[in-house]
Amino acid sequence: MDFLGIDRVVYGASNLTQANDFFSQWGLKRVSKSPKKLVFETGNGNQVIVQRHDDPELPPKIAEHQEFREVIYGLAKQSDFDAVHDNLSKDRLVSIDKEGVMHTVDDSGIHIGFRVVREKKRPPAKETLWNSPSQKKRVDVISAVYSEAHPFKMGHIVFFVPDTKVAENFYRKRLGFWLSDRYVGGAGVFLRWAKRSEHHNMFFVKSRTNSLALHHIAFEVDSIHEVFGGGLAFSKKGWPTEVGPGRHPISSAYFWYFKNPLGGAVEYFCDADFVTEKWQPHQYRVNRFAEWHLLDGIEIKDDGKSRPSLKSAKEIDQHKKNEMAVVMKASK
Ligand SMILES: [Fe+2]
Repeated sequence: MDFLGIDRVVYGASNLTQANDFFSQWGLKRVSKSPKKLVFETGNGNQVIVQRHDDPELPPKIAEHQEFREVIYGLAKQSDFDAVHDNLSKDRLVSIDKEGVMHTVDDSGIHIGFRVVREKKRPPAKETLWNSPSQKKRVDVISAVYSEAHPFKMGHIVFFVPDTKVAENFYRKRLGFWLSDRYVGGAGVFLRWAKRSEHHNMFFVKSRTNSLALHHIAFEVDSIHEVFGGGLAFSKKGWPTEVGPGRHPISSAYFWYFKNPLGGAVEYFCDADFVTEKWQPHQYRVNRFAEWHLLDGIEIKDDGKSRPSLKSAKEIDQHKKNEMAVVMKASK
């Protein structure tokens, strides 16, 4: 099964003017506009669609306080589309609309769809050169500066769910997704749609209230310069930060999240880990460091036991020892 990514997300809105400002200033290209519907695209043609909230064609909300409605995944081949259709039709209602998009609902209650798409590759971006105390790679050249971001694609989507095991089973067993990492005790699970992929394309977080909601949709940009430049520009336009800028300890991505007036958040990110069939999933304990941006979703006990897993703690210790050995050797 060749998944090519998140092809579309669909929101409802009572205020299309505000939604237009939000996604235009986020750096998406508006490709169509009518009194009932707005369509925006990322660099590779992923679409954010906003329709009037009372449009009868819209799927229902998944959470009362949010306007998120549906996510559509891109498939590379018609045979993949047919295989998904045959599989999911066995135990749920699956429809295909006049545009050829398949629609159904996953086992958590999230409205999902599938469409055959053609992959659009990113031309190679200019390499980000770093200077450090020991290495000067950018010499007599100022760093790249972005006055705004233009996301290339949607990289992942994150939901609060009542049961992460239900969500994991559906995507792994029915759609062939891969496990990248998890938090123990069902607190969270990171999945990817191909064995060779960014660290995660979906992340499910156990909801404290056992309810379903969108947490965020992440838009990938070229570099840390675009995360910072885009985030600063978006912030100056008055859109409130949810959290960031920062760097995720799991997936390594640099990030900056903003609150979306239609519900949940949007994220600029770059430089996520890219993993393959050799990747060994970790079993992380929930800890403040990793989850400080998701405090609404994960219950954290303040009992002094909140720390990374023993395996990752040992890796961090070893890394620090190695670094110290290099420093000691250099100072001799
Ligand atoms: Fe994210």
